[in-house]
Amino acid sequence: MQKDQYYDLVSKRVQRNWQAEGYGAWRKVSNPEAVPLNFGFPYPTSYPFEELASACAAVMEEDGADALKYGGGPLAAKMDRMIADRCKERGMNVGDDELLITSGSAQAISLAAELFLNEGDTMLVEGPTFMGALKSFQDHPVDIYAIEGDDDGVKTDDMEQLLQKLSSEGRPPKFFYSIPNFNNPAGFTMSLERRQRVLELAEQYNFIVVEDDAYGELRYEGEDLPTLRALDEGDRVLHFGSMSKILAPAVRIGWVVGPAALVQQMERLKSDGGSNPLIRALVAACWGSIDVNERLIEIRSGYRMRRDAALEALETYMPDGCSWSRPEGGYFLWVTVPDTLDATEILPEIAEAGATPLGGTMFFPDDRGRQNLRLSFSFPDPSEIERGIRAMAEVIEKHL
Ligand SMILES: Cc1ncc(COP(=O)(O)O)c(C=O)c1O
Repeated sequence: MQKDQYYDLVSKRVQRNWQAEGYGAWRKVSNPEAVPLNFGFPYPTSYPFEELASACAAVMEEDGADALKYGGGPLAAKMDRMIADRCKERGMNVGDDELLITSGSAQAISLAAELFLNEGDTMLVEGPTFMGALKSFQDHPVDIYAIEGDDDGVKTDDMEQLLQKLSSEGRPPKFFYSIPNFNNPAGFTMSLERRQRVLELAEQYNFIVVEDDAYGELRYEGEDLPTLRALDEGDRVLHFGSMSKILAPAVRIGWVVGPAALVQQMERLKSDGGSNPLIRALVAACWGSIDVNERLIEIRSGYRMRRDAALEALETYMPDGCSWSRPEGGYFLWVTVPDTLDATEILPEIAEAGATPLGGTMFFPDDRGRQNLRLSFSFPDPSEIERGIRAMAEVIEKHL
């Protein structure tokens, strides 16, 4: 068959993005020698190799053939309870039908898009926001509005204005997708006051809040804030969590906690026989054999060290006129260059010089982000981070 004959057979949803680049197209700007400031990955020595190796044997011993059947055995169910307990410790209600395990939080994001979005709908995101989520939303024929954030997270006054406008046009948004803790890519965190305001606005304008808390357990400075779900008196928040950043991305374990009626519909949409029961058992056995709080303290300190190395290098090498965020947790820093410079255009040159930050444009649904770069400091060693930032800063300086 010819390519266009396939095109005629696929759904409109696939046709709409037939020519679009696949997820990860940003990896094309690369150089094997460059410091990878693009990967939002854990640093390799943070993985609990030995515990995972012993957990494999423990799963087979404890659950036997049950571990390998559809749905898995008792250990898989134990992991679900461990997650529910952890969410409860963080102040969230988790009733019987209010938890769904997904294949990474990425699946939860796609399910939310399927759950809510019809052609012509509107929805809200933070500006900037996670490019993977944007891609899932952009697969649907909807209008996505990005509301700018500052050091206190999304600007709720701007949000209110936009809500008034969309409501008066008869196009109120279905949901607001937020990364309230250590936003990917900007690193900002929503203040308590703004969390409360978002929930008030959700009540007033009747939309759902999708809280993506992929980095919530990775605060290494300042005080933890309650999750939106913990503050959610109107039962309007779908909270998403992930094992990717606290254990390992390859386990592909994420979760949804939220109103039972919505969680049940997400489960129906999933129709995959349950996510990764064998790996869930492995996670339960591994989590059971370590002190989770100790582990979190250790990896937070690994990320803090990397963030500090990045901040110090930026301070030392970046030319005047540039600024950057100072996250209190998570993986990312957001650099802003003067508006005489298009940061996206110099990415290949920066890669050639020895670093691969990501350009800001992929984090907006519109044409913003040209003066921005996302630096992920989670993966390389601190000395490498310094080398990468120095290389990047020299290229930027040359262009100013
Ligand atoms: C904000 C955010 N949400 C979700 C994900 C996807 O995570 P998972 O590995 O759980 O699918 C990522 C991954 O980088 C992320 O940064």
